[in-house]
Amino acid sequence: MSLLASRDIETSDEWIYSRSGIQFRHFADDQSQTSDLAAAAASRSLAAAGLNTDAIDLIIVATTTPDAVFPGTACLVQRKLGIRNGCAAFDIQAVCGGFVYALTVADAMIRGTSVKTALVIGAETFSRLLDFRDRGTCVLFGDGAGAVILRSSDEPGILGAALHADGHHSEILKVPGRISGGGVLGDPFVRMDGPAVFKLAISALHEVSEEVATKCSLSMSDFDWLVPHQANIRIMEATARKLGISANYLVSTVREHGNTSAASIPLALDQAYRDGRICRGDKVLMHAVGAGVTWGALAMQA
Ligand code: UT7
Repeated sequence: MSLLASRDIETSDEWIYSRSGIQFRHFADDQSQTSDLAAAAASRSLAAAGLNTDAIDLIIVATTTPDAVFPGTACLVQRKLGIRNGCAAFDIQAVCGGFVYALTVADAMIRGTSVKTALVIGAETFSRLLDFRDRGTCVLFGDGAGAVILRSSDEPGILGAALHADGHHSEILKVPGRISGGGVLGDPFVRMDGPAVFKLAISALHEVSEEVATKCSLSMSDFDWLVPHQANIRIMEATARKLGISANYLVSTVREHGNTSAASIPLALDQAYRDGRICRGDKVLMHAVGAGVTWGALAMQA
């Protein structure tokens, strides 16, 4: 479903588009859970890779909107895909930074354990955390899922990554409520100090991207594509500018999807692969910042 100006608040399509770049979002129907979106994305990625589910020996789901407090969404995805090989399956909760965290962990497990093929998914039903009386948040977030498959190989793939967090900024973006005694204790909705997140995001993304490039002995001009977390086109363009990356090489899906938190990078990657922009051998820089705050960047050769 596309949703522009929201229901009971004073806002306009013009305000939303000019401040964030968002025109459309998608909300899951009431019957669909995050694991349904995740399993659908996983099936599409398996088909694109020409693999069947037997090949998967690790499942990581980056999500902040799990189906339930437990079991983990990754275990539910394992069941929905009919995977019975006992592979490890767990969730990573680093909010909008989640997909970069998940890819980094999967890469480390491939390098350091017997894992050969990892299914890494970013999936969210963020619409369920929205307070439709709060115009500062309810016009921004949407639902979605994207997935990638990482395989052990002698060829280059993930070139390097860096992850960071600073819990001292936990107040600027949060859902404060918690489950206790049979109900939600406290506020169950997303609360955000938008301008504070905006400012922090640009400097964190700039620094961590430079850190990863240095680690990989690459300069920014070596990257063919920047695939950032899709929170706000103004953040994405300002960061690309600071990094010296032309807007032509910025993959942006924020107009079509809004901010889908951990799902935004794999959704953007999927679009850029399928429309032929990202080709084999291309160097891709991804970066994200999210509540916590968490942030990270990852360099990859496609
Ligand atoms: O994904 C995790 C990280 N999240 C982000 O990166 C989000 C970061 N923040 C942002 O993207 C931006 O801060 C927003 C899009 C949330 C807001 O844009 P902004 O340019 O920072 O606007 P603002 O919050 O400074 O608000 C400007 C004005 C205010 O009115 P006054 O005080 O100037 O009269 C707001 O009350 O816009 C008002 N406003 C709105 N007006 C119409 C806030 N939300 C709305 C709205 N419609 N939906």
